[in-house]
Amino acid sequence: MLTREQALEAVGSVTAQYSADTVSVRDVVVKDRQVSMTVLTASEDIRPSLETALRAALARAGAETVHCRFRALESGAGAAAAPQGQAGGKGQPAAAKGPVQGHGAGIDSPLLAAGSGTQFIAVASGKGGVGKSTVTVNLAVALARKGKRVGIIDADIYGFSVPDMMGIETRPEIVNERVIPIERYGVKVMSMGFFVEDNSPIVWRGPMLGKMLRNFFAEIEWGELDYLLLDLPPGTGDVALDVHQIIPQSKEIIVTTPHATAAFVAARAGAMAIKTEHEIIGVVENMSYYKCSKCGEPEYIFGRGGGARLAESLHAELLAQIPLGQPDNHISEPDFSPSVYKADSETGALYLDIAEQVIQKCGR
Ligand SMILES: Nc1ncnc2c1ncn2[C@@H]1O[C@H](COP(=O)(O)OP(=O)(O)OP(=O)(O)O)[C@@H](O)[C@H]1O
Ligand SMILES: [Mg+2]
Repeated sequence: MLTREQALEAVGSVTAQYSADTVSVRDVVVKDRQVSMTVLTASEDIRPSLETALRAALARAGAETVHCRFRALESGAGAAAAPQGQAGGKGQPAAAKGPVQGHGAGIDSPLLAAGSGTQFIAVASGKGGVGKSTVTVNLAVALARKGKRVGIIDADIYGFSVPDMMGIETRPEIVNERVIPIERYGVKVMSMGFFVEDNSPIVWRGPMLGKMLRNFFAEIEWGELDYLLLDLPPGTGDVALDVHQIIPQSKEIIVTTPHATAAFVAARAGAMAIKTEHEIIGVVENMSYYKCSKCGEPEYIFGRGGGARLAESLHAELLAQIPLGQPDNHISEPDFSPSVYKADSETGALYLDIAEQVIQKCGR
């Protein structure tokens, strides 16, 4: 057990060696012996040694993983009373030597390494059942249809649904002790669902979730990917925090329905993204309307405007409004899946449009 007080004490023992206008640490979050924090430094030169010292001090206090987000310390942002260049100044603490870990909370995966070309996108919501998994799957397929190399991590470890939605019936193979993700519609997929017999419930507790997520990076043969989408469980719980700690560079898409309450609750997921410094790419409003099959007019069954209001409150863009309607797929088709819309369908085209916006915003 590592308390926040113990973590703060360990951090303080390191920062005490620097003046307050050289180094400042904030947003220290402790969960299950995982620590993340924002480290503001006046100079980039001191970051490697500072990070090593912080890691060492926190490891001694009992931390298992440590993630430091470095930012520039603007002059005057530290303790205003501290004079320039004192006690440490640009100096380095004597004990600060050793390897420096970049992104990825110490997980050995090329996807998480600094300079990796993979863009992570977490798909989040406040409420359950609004269509996160549907959006994740269809956005991934749309990105693949646009020629991108795409993967999905079904991070909803208890409530996995991605394999079923994509019509995956096979299990991953293991080659040279590495798990090969299942490829479907050109998307590489990894899910807890592959490792559970007969859809039986999973009863793991919090720390196991984080471990599982880590294994999805460390032990899976992803190859090179342009995009890796994460289908998050609903809400702002443990897994969302784990994702933040493992992938601080992830961006987010928030899914809501047009109903005012759904959008209100989704705002909390958005606020969490902002707090954890995940850039919000945009909002997808799902189940926006039902298009009458007779007259073609939209009927706003779940209300109107939730997505636009949410986007505005998060200073993000409303990427799309997806109508109600299941994909027009039939089980007799060779490439059948219950939830992937065909590229030439109306909803399929909306997903291609979201994919294009994502590509423009992410620049890859
Ligand atoms: N635009 C839509 N039109 C009709 N049905 C939809 C639409 N989007 C999603 N659904 C259906 O709604 C249900 C919930 O969708 P989905 O599982 O994607 O939501 P979720 O947010 O991932 O749920 P959970 O919180 O349980 O993970 C599914 O049965 C899905 O097929
Ligand atoms: Mg889901």
